[in-house]
Amino acid sequence: MQTIITLPAACDFHIHTRQGVLMEMVAPRIAEGGVSLCYVMPNLKPPITSTEQALEYKAQLERLAPNVTFLMSLYLCPELTPEEIRKAKKHGIVGVKSYPRGVTTNSESGIESYAIYYPVFKAMEEVGLILNLHGELPSDADQDICVMNAEEKFLMHLKQLHNDFPKLKIVLEHATTKAAVDTVKALGDTIGCTITIHHLQLTVDDWAGQCHNFCKPVAKFPHDRQALRDVVLEGHPRFFLGTDSAPHPAYLKECAHSCAGVFTTPLAIPYLATILDSFGAINCLRKFACENGKKFYGVSEEEGKYREITLVKEALLVPHSYSFDESVEERRGSIQLPLELILA
Ligand code: NCD
Ligand code: DOR
Ligand code: ZN
Ligand code: ZN
Repeated sequence: MQTIITLPAACDFHIHTRQGVLMEMVAPRIAEGGVSLCYVMPNLKPPITSTEQALEYKAQLERLAPNVTFLMSLYLCPELTPEEIRKAKKHGIVGVKSYPRGVTTNSESGIESYAIYYPVFKAMEEVGLILNLHGELPSDADQDICVMNAEEKFLMHLKQLHNDFPKLKIVLEHATTKAAVDTVKALGDTIGCTITIHHLQLTVDDWAGQCHNFCKPVAKFPHDRQALRDVVLEGHPRFFLGTDSAPHPAYLKECAHSCAGVFTTPLAIPYLATILDSFGAINCLRKFACENGKKFYGVSEEEGKYREITLVKEALLVPHSYSFDESVEERRGSIQLPLELILA
């Protein structure tokens, strides 16, 4: 590998920037991690469901990170109407994220079935908004669905949506399986796919019992990781970086019921470059992290926000944690049983 690489600052098409003190810690680190443009997930508390909320959130992020281009998304929910979609488009909102109910952080208000959203998808297809899918079905013992096959079992919905809305651009987020890679490749030009950095590194053995590697969807088998690596090596134009960087307070990660999410933002591009280099894909960095996503989305940096970055080959120790003022975070209890009898 060359010891110095210069390339455009990267684009992260899937980032959780959070809110409050956590957002204040995360936002300034986006540029530090080598990223100039990012697509922001809407799973806040409460979720971002209107154009006003999204624009207010964008303004907050821009105050904290004035050199980063923030592309905004809305959270698919029953309040989202075709009128709101048209308004969102007019104000520069880029897409709509769909979470199946209950599968991950703040997805309590996610969807049960896509049928009621067909008028919304129709409007999105007409105006050119992107549909971002968290592609997992909720675990269900009766149907033998658990975290290991939740993504593969979801893929029929992706195919169905593509069939019903062939002009709607859809991104399958954070793919973790060979099945997902094969499905996206087989579908047409309107179907894209993000891959995280950590899913290019981890397999199931790395998160079972290791809370800091636990995320949704969970990392799968070695052959799945190989399929993700192969599609990056191939330079396939519809696969691109979305880190799914998802910070949580330490006490919610290092506990009995660990929150899902791997926080990679502060070192995103050094981490990606290191992992790509480990399997001979360093030459794919530019396409995967700087070019493919922008082309699929048809976006670029806002005026004056394009820049270049330089990577140098040097050892660096990853900090154990990044501090922020947890005292003002609402502390969630870690008790999993709702108590119905308490001491008087
Ligand atoms: C989720 C939550 O608490 O919202 N927890 C998490 O670890 N992300 C629910 C869940 O995924 O089990
Ligand atoms: O691991 C995850 N964390 N996956 C998601 O889909 C959501 C994210 C979060 O917001 O914490
Ligand atoms: Zn997701
Ligand atoms: Zn995510």
